[in-house]
Amino acid sequence: LDYEGRTAFVTGGANGIGLGLVRALLAQGCKVAIADIREDALAAAIKTFDNQSVIAVQLDVASRAGFARAADRAEAALGPVSLVFNNAGINLFQTIDESSYDDWDWVMGVNLHGVINGVMTFAPRMKALGQGGHIVNTASMASFLCGGAPGIYNTTKFAVRGMSESLRYSLAPHGIGVSVLCPGLAKSHIYASDEVRPSALSGGAKPVDGAAVDRLEQLHQFGMEPDVIAARTLEAMQENRFHIFPHPEFRDEMATVFDEILADFRDYPEDAGFAQRTGFEKMR
Ligand code: NAI
Repeated sequence: LDYEGRTAFVTGGANGIGLGLVRALLAQGCKVAIADIREDALAAAIKTFDNQSVIAVQLDVASRAGFARAADRAEAALGPVSLVFNNAGINLFQTIDESSYDDWDWVMGVNLHGVINGVMTFAPRMKALGQGGHIVNTASMASFLCGGAPGIYNTTKFAVRGMSESLRYSLAPHGIGVSVLCPGLAKSHIYASDEVRPSALSGGAKPVDGAAVDRLEQLHQFGMEPDVIAARTLEAMQENRFHIFPHPEFRDEMATVFDEILADFRDYPEDAGFAQRTGFEKMR
């Protein structure tokens, strides 16, 4: 994958991991559209670059029409997009049983439908352009590893991983790579997600626990630097790797999870020969 001269579109690019990706892409000679819901953060991010090749586009990724408009604006200014980073995400740090339907709609809208909208907007354009490219969807280690909280977040991230894997098979013939980025703790503003929650989806929301947000802010200060995550991401894209795991410390826990899954399989003697009779043994 040749980065030089390509146009990239990075959602949630005004902060955290997305902003790290923007910096890394510019350093590789890409043109970059930063798409984010936070106008103040977009303005602040743009100010840090002395570069004609970067623009800011205000976008709520949950909006289908808004996504198409943002893509049009980016392509009018910077040329056709062939690198897409569906990275915008929020977290609601609470369990499923203490959540409302508005909680579901908000988190699913941004973390899952935002990624779907990015794929539905750009995949047809990239196929028509015929210059290959790459789509990176940001999931999380939480797309494999669950605790009790945050359950809605886990749901969205597992879904992003599944859709990315399927998409990888369907776009490969077009020379378009797909990867899923699965970071652990990152230095970011995700603890402040509630600031961008739409009022229309705030019904039944639990009051924000200021002390818990403060604790999360402290925790995220110790997270991995976005520039490190971005460098590992661009390297993995170049090698067309599907899973991007910037945090090696999770390897042992992942091994435990897969061992637990395999341990749940049983041999059922009455089914002997079933798979051979049906001819259906493999999903991929
Ligand atoms: P961040 O809060 O620093 O950056 C996310 C950006 O997304 C913000 O600038 C925010 O304004 C934007 N955003 C939120 N809702 C949006 C919407 N509806 N439309 C457009 N933009 C929107 O957080 P971070 O951590 O950099 O998040 C990036 C991605 O990384 C997310 O998908 C997150 O789930 C994922 N992630 C983060 C981890 C962490 O420890 N911070 C760990 C694993 C995954």
